[in-house]
Amino acid sequence: MTNSATLAPTSKTAPATAQEMQSDALIERLQWRYAAKKMDPTKAVPQAKVERILEAARLAPTSSGLQPYEIFVVTNTEVRARIKPIAWNQGQITDGSHLLVFAAWDDYTVERINMMFDLTNTVRGMKNEGWENYRNMLLGMYPQRGAEVNHQHAARQAYIGMTAAMVAAAFEEVDCTPMEGFDAKALDEILDLRARGLRSVAILPLGYRESDKDWLVNLTKVRRPREQFITEV
Ligand SMILES: Cc1cc2nc3c(=O)[nH]c(=O)nc-3n(C[C@H](O)[C@H](O)[C@H](O)COP(=O)(O)O)c2cc1C
Repeated sequence: MTNSATLAPTSKTAPATAQEMQSDALIERLQWRYAAKKMDPTKAVPQAKVERILEAARLAPTSSGLQPYEIFVVTNTEVRARIKPIAWNQGQITDGSHLLVFAAWDDYTVERINMMFDLTNTVRGMKNEGWENYRNMLLGMYPQRGAEVNHQHAARQAYIGMTAAMVAAAFEEVDCTPMEGFDAKALDEILDLRARGLRSVAILPLGYRESDKDWLVNLTKVRRPREQFITEV
């Protein structure tokens, strides 16, 4: 099968319910997806699909709900042309139609922690003693840990968002290529991220595979077998 995982099926019996059929469909699309190496520059991802992919990232959980990252959607062709050479000249950056940049907070500050806890109180229309105690615990812990430790923690949350975006893209039958292969400092300068207290951690071009020019598309997906990956205790 083309670029499909040699994963053991989760269920050996045929799906009995609509829910099970949907679950199978998600796994099929995760087998279909791959880190596209060549995207078709003539095909753009429809905005409605991009919005759903972004919404999946926005809905992704984060530690303490702090959402310590932002996503930049770069469609400007000149900006993407400037990014490509500082990202190993990877063609998907300009051949895709949208480039998502996941930029994590450079630090957890008192203001940022309070911003999210205040937002929670506003959205829920209530103050909760347990939640306020939790706020104070984080305020007493995070800002003192140092910017680098905090940024690395924030970066891990950004990866959760990127994962949600990748799964959503597969669900939408949109191709994407997760990338760490770029000069983060140079990208921060191009997008002026440091001035906003952000640092780029990962990028994700969205587009459509150009199968006849992609060396990877017909290669079998490689994953360790279930028994080497999952331990049941
Ligand atoms: C965090 C992360 C960074 C990656 N960086 C790059 C990259 O810079 N360029 C690239 O072509 N692929 C990159 N990949 C793609 C991986 O090599 C690929 O996802 C992995 O080999 C599994 O293959 P598949 O995604 O095609 O199933 C990256 C993947 C992840 C998750």
